Amino acid sequence: MMRAAITAVAGFLPENIVTNFDLEKIIETTDEWITTRTGIKQRHLENDPTRATSDMCVEAVNLLCKKRGIHPEEIDLLICGTVTPDLVFPSTANIISAKVGAKNAWSYDISAACSGFIFALTTGAQFIETGRYKKVVIVGADMMSRIIDYKDRTTCVIFGDGAGAVLLEPNSEDLGIMDFVLHADGNGANYLHMKAGGSLKPASHETVENKMHFVHQEGQAVFKHAVYNMAEVSARIMQRNNLTDKDVNWLAAHQANKRIIDATSERMGLAKEKVMMNIERYGNTTAGTIPLLLWDYESQLKKGDTIILAAFGGGFTWGSVYLKWAYDGSMVGK
Ligand code: UT7
Repeated sequence: MMRAAITAVAGFLPENIVTNFDLEKIIETTDEWITTRTGIKQRHLENDPTRATSDMCVEAVNLLCKKRGIHPEEIDLLICGTVTPDLVFPSTANIISAKVGAKNAWSYDISAACSGFIFALTTGAQFIETGRYKKVVIVGADMMSRIIDYKDRTTCVIFGDGAGAVLLEPNSEDLGIMDFVLHADGNGANYLHMKAGGSLKPASHETVENKMHFVHQEGQAVFKHAVYNMAEVSARIMQRNNLTDKDVNWLAAHQANKRIIDATSERMGLAKEKVMMNIERYGNTTAGTIPLLLWDYESQLKKGDTIILAAFGGGFTWGSVYLKWAYDGSMVGK
């Protein structure tokens, strides 16, 4: 069977950094609260109002092509996981493809919030496994600062902006995506959503005045579902592939809250050194977190490493992906 393997990874973060101490000046919070409750110390927030999610993705995709030594015209398909598209339509993936000159690609977005990257990755992998395509780019990106109320301390401390991208190519050495378990439950919508801006409540004076274009999150309820489901699905994918903690080299889990990641790694029985973590520097970049983790840890990844990706997010959506890394990351420059 031809597998879909990640053959390159790249990322982008806006230059502007906002620390917990900066937030202390605008809302009633403390560095101590944010650090102990979430693990976050700072986040990157785009402060140029003319830039949008696609601009971050363009930087990541251009770097991706440069690293792999390919021209964007070689890309067959580009999928973008995001809940902060540039526009309601057309898709951000289309805009990215046009901006990078991926003239031969067709493209579309996947809306699965924090699970957007793994939903897009597993979808894109199907086109490689069937033999239809040779080069599929998967982007996970969100400019969360555009839908966050910086007067709401329960959400604004958590989120950040960022984009990550990977290239999928065919692999005949039994490396790449081995298995995945994905779930969605629309009954969770009430706990994490944006109240207006869609066909249910189009933008109006009323929706703007009532702050209905910002993220609404019932933190504790989401936390409970996230802890249970991310740990459960990660343990399950190990079980059904007969993997023990010794077989797993890395966990790349969605970076929403350090306590959720710790609970997942404990359930999997993994040592701390095997858990990728960058939440302290980037916060929760929604669909961006997992590709950004792979980008940050790339130099430590060896050919054949077993990696479990895990995510939980709005929808609810959640799942795990079992993959075998296909190249020696230490040989690749940033
Ligand atoms: O990424 C997609 C999915 N999202 C998640 O996975 C997020 C899941 N949820 C969480 O990570 C956590 O629920 C939060 C980080 C959002 C909140 O942490 P928590 O430990 O669940 O806090 P809480 O909501 O139970 O609030 C505890 C207290 C409250 O005060 P009282 O009522 O006990 O007096 C809050 O008002 O902390 C207060 N609080 C804050 N205090 C200082 C809430 N936000 C802040 C803040 N600074 N930023």
